[in-house]
Amino acid sequence: MSYSNTDARFGATARTLHWLTALLILTAIALGLIASDLPHDTGEALARKAQIFSLHKTIGIAAFAVALIRILWAFTQPRPAPLHPERVLEHRLAEIVHWLLYISMLAVPLSGWIHHAAVSGFAPILWPFGQGLPFVPKSDLVATAATWAHEIFGKVLIASVVLHIAGALKHAIIDRDGTLSRIVHGTEIEAPRQHRPLWPAATAIALYAAGTIAALTLAQNEAEALQIAEPVPVAAPAETTATPASANAWTVTEGTLGFGVKQMGSAVDGTFGAWTAKIDFSETPTNGEHGHVRVRIDTTTLTLGSVTDQAKGADFFDTATHPDAVFDATILPGAEAKGYLAKGTLTLRGVTIPVEMPFTLDLQGDTAKMTGTTTLDRRDFGMGATYKDESSVGFGVTVSVNLTARRG
Ligand code: HEM
Ligand code: HEM
Repeated sequence: MSYSNTDARFGATARTLHWLTALLILTAIALGLIASDLPHDTGEALARKAQIFSLHKTIGIAAFAVALIRILWAFTQPRPAPLHPERVLEHRLAEIVHWLLYISMLAVPLSGWIHHAAVSGFAPILWPFGQGLPFVPKSDLVATAATWAHEIFGKVLIASVVLHIAGALKHAIIDRDGTLSRIVHGTEIEAPRQHRPLWPAATAIALYAAGTIAALTLAQNEAEALQIAEPVPVAAPAETTATPASANAWTVTEGTLGFGVKQMGSAVDGTFGAWTAKIDFSETPTNGEHGHVRVRIDTTTLTLGSVTDQAKGADFFDTATHPDAVFDATILPGAEAKGYLAKGTLTLRGVTIPVEMPFTLDLQGDTAKMTGTTTLDRRDFGMGATYKDESSVGFGVTVSVNLTARRG
């Protein structure tokens, strides 16, 4: 068996790589379309959808790796000449489609991978690859652009594959020549060598450039529309209060309220964009208490990577019915130096349960930096009742607060 190509036949390496890529790409297309169409309204449905996406991503990356090898190999090889030199237009069309296929083999999985790396959570790759990719920031804009690119490039790929298969079948059924047999069996058929102009490759590159510009424009428009639609406040101003500010009142100048959960075994981090805090605090305790804190959280401003919509849904935060969560606590001395304990209740989804959050304070004159974390159990609030085990969503939710407050 000969592994290399000649002007008259495809060698075993080119044929194996052709059919392996074809198998992987066709499987990835089928899984991508099936997974996108699956519902995600219950825990089981979401878990099944995520599993098929995980498989889709894993096979897609395998397709990317094989395609890379295939393209590198093709560079070193002669390409068998077409069997009907007189059909110039047909050959040029086939060339454009071949170039579109070569570009798609890399661009489709790469855009999917960039989307995966730019978001957090949902459907991990079933290989020892983490969520991230070098040079790809966690960014909504990058994720949206990559999603559009994946969708547009995916459609170009599907259209090219359809044309490519139609051409192959035409050769086999209508022309009854050896074109298909050359790539299936490696049949050797002599044909005169032909000049191959560059414009079919240039046409394929231009089509891809247009697809890329379309993806970037759509992502930009979407980002602008979102900014107009929801101007989410980022800072956390002090909760307005009718009572006059006490000498121990503190105003939050900046801060973040974050939470983390394990999704399909991978950590996903989320934040609440808008919340207010009313803090009364004194370094010297009175009756064993340092003060009081009340935090009101606008749950509709939560973000949780690519699963924000699911987290806001009725199964989890149910933000449509419960747009507010309230943490109300007394500040007590903590176990360690600079340490305190906020001991009180958290009301979330209409359920109130006792919660304790140990925190540290770094006091510099009238400015304090506060850092605290606590772990909650989502089941205590009736969250994710249909997610009965931890395989898709973990039970533990880590809440972390980092803020800077000014006295007065
Ligand atoms: C996702 C699936 C597929 C991809 C990405 C793909 C890609 C390609 C590429 C890039 C070439 C050009 C090879 C070269 O000249 O260096 C090629 C050749 C060829 N492919 Fe496919 N292919 C796929 C599926 C198929 C299928 C399903 C068939 C048959 C029904 C087929 C039949 C052929 C034939 C006959 C050739 C040789 C064309 C010639 O001699 O000019 N391919 N394929
Ligand atoms: C040859 C490889 C691949 C092909 C042919 C492919 C194809 C597809 C198709 C046809 C869809 C459905 C799009 C729609 O419903 O309009 C899809 C969706 C998706 N694919 Fe791929 N894909 C590939 C590789 C990857 C890889 C490597 C990843 C990530 C690591 C990925 C991530 C996704 C995601 C997240 C979606 C959902 C739609 C989105 O939000 O972008 N894909 N893919």
